[in-house]
Amino acid sequence: MIEYSHFDNLTTGIFENTDTVQVIDVPRLHLYPDRLNRVADTWTKFSWDKCASIGEDEPHIHEWVFPENKLFTGVQYSNDVVGYDIDYYEPETDDGDPSGKKVTREKIYCYEWTHRRFGKHLPWARYWYDLVNDLECVVEKLLPAFDLPENSYTQRQLNIIKYECKEASNNEELKIHRRESSDRFGVDHIDGTLFGLHLGESHPEIHAKPDGADEYVKPDLTGNKVLLLVGEHAADLMNGRGTDHRLFYNGDYLAKSRYSLILDITLRFNDEEDLEHPM
Ligand SMILES: [Fe+2]
Repeated sequence: MIEYSHFDNLTTGIFENTDTVQVIDVPRLHLYPDRLNRVADTWTKFSWDKCASIGEDEPHIHEWVFPENKLFTGVQYSNDVVGYDIDYYEPETDDGDPSGKKVTREKIYCYEWTHRRFGKHLPWARYWYDLVNDLECVVEKLLPAFDLPENSYTQRQLNIIKYECKEASNNEELKIHRRESSDRFGVDHIDGTLFGLHLGESHPEIHAKPDGADEYVKPDLTGNKVLLLVGEHAADLMNGRGTDHRLFYNGDYLAKSRYSLILDITLRFNDEEDLEHPM
């Protein structure tokens, strides 16, 4: 079941109703009707090398390989400017051999200080800084729900995401790659966040359900609607259910690039060392 509510009626009580998938109509978002196009545009302008060159800290780079079949690989980059992840999946042939072609998921993690400290070098960051600020009215209504632990604080993290299948050489293969991309990168999970606001997809694929429910529902995120993703910290603190979510491609489009946009409210602890990205 999905409950659609309006920002004007939004209260912290939304976290007491986590047996239902919650979608919120946020009128402020009318200022950003082209946000998914802006995601695509940001990807044409973003360069990790540029971010590495303007940052003050030494970049942290972590390469990983999924040990068993080695079909999953990836690199995580981060410094004081942004985080940038690229994950690869290599679909198998019908015989179960590696196909030699890859699909990718890339994420830019953009923070409040990305624009404040580095905006003059990164003109694309301005739009996202404004959007996150305009969503603060939603965050302000929701945060008082939580008695946050003494040594913790919250952070805003905008996830600018691209799923790409650019190595498919014909439409039939593209369909296979799109399906693999959504199945492999969109495995069901609950975010390791406090909560998130899903701000839409260029090609709608997200399905959601309260943790433990049988059936997924597909929310309508057109217009100014956002999906509330109850993360594991909110579920713990409120004794509620996280929002389990996954991607599902139903063969209805053939685009090589698919985009999505999510604002995460993450819970940080004063004494934590390495920051892990919460999906
Ligand atoms: Fe997620």
